[in-house]
Amino acid sequence: MATLTSLNPLLLFFVTITSTLLPVESGNTNHVYSPCADTTVQVSDGFTFSIAFSSRTAFFFNSSLQLSPCDRRLALTNQNSQISVFRPEVDEISLLTINTSSFSPDNYGGYMVAFAGRKYAARSLPAFVANNTYTVTSFTLVLEFKKGRLQNLYWKRDGCTKCSKGSSFVCLNNQDCAIRTSSCKNHGGSVDCSLGIQLAFSGTDKHFSALNSWYEVENLRQYSLYGLYSNLRDSLTGQYNKIF
Ligand SMILES: *[C@@H]1O[C@H](CO)[C@@H](O)[C@H](O)[C@H]1NC(C)=O
Ligand SMILES: *[C@@H]1O[C@H](CO)[C@@H](O)[C@H](O)[C@H]1NC(C)=O
Ligand SMILES: *[C@@H]1O[C@H](CO)[C@@H](O)[C@H](O)[C@H]1NC(C)=O
Repeated sequence: MATLTSLNPLLLFFVTITSTLLPVESGNTNHVYSPCADTTVQVSDGFTFSIAFSSRTAFFFNSSLQLSPCDRRLALTNQNSQISVFRPEVDEISLLTINTSSFSPDNYGGYMVAFAGRKYAARSLPAFVANNTYTVTSFTLVLEFKKGRLQNLYWKRDGCTKCSKGSSFVCLNNQDCAIRTSSCKNHGGSVDCSLGIQLAFSGTDKHFSALNSWYEVENLRQYSLYGLYSNLRDSLTGQYNKIF
């Protein structure tokens, strides 16, 4: 298995809004901290997963089989790639942000894959983030568990509803709101094109308890989590014609 330590983790931070939305439950029982290891979790455990940035083709073995970035056959470490590691709490709605002031996703292939696990490896499909024309900054990632084991990660799209009013946005493939990469600060423009990834959990934990945060995100969608983070609202969204 590839060792992720040989890659440079990006500078990142993540925040949760547990205290305002969900009751806080005590304690972490998951002592697996590597994204390339297997574990089962319960509500309020920490859960480690990772996001790799690279070209779309770099995530496929022999041009056809999409493997987990943990699989050394992909040899991602030899490619132009970057890895971020996150540890959100299970069943808490979180907003992950990746600051792009010193990291341009289009310089690293422009696609991202979320992944975790080894024998039970799960990975998302590659999501387009940026090329030198367009940059997508807002994502929703659902982590689906069955009896506490990660089964699937998928990017949830809600079409281009959020970008219809913002003239600076372009709708790509009827699913992603994108901004012109030349408008981004890391390309000489004025917009902070940091990535925001809203996270939600679905399925069941190892005690068969239902994970409900996905349900909460669906209900919240009209407001969007971004609006709840005043510090991020200014940098990530305040610049976008108050669309959130
Ligand atoms: C790669 O794909 C080609 C064509 O699909 C196939 O013939 C070949 O056996 C594959 N190689 C490996 C190592 O799987
Ligand atoms: C990203 O980092 C830069 C420089 O530290 C900072 O000015 C900017 O506000 C950050 N953006 C976000 C969204 O946190
Ligand atoms: C950038 O990505 C968009 C959306 O996927 C695509 O339509 C466009 O052709 C790409 N441009 C370049 C220069 O690759």
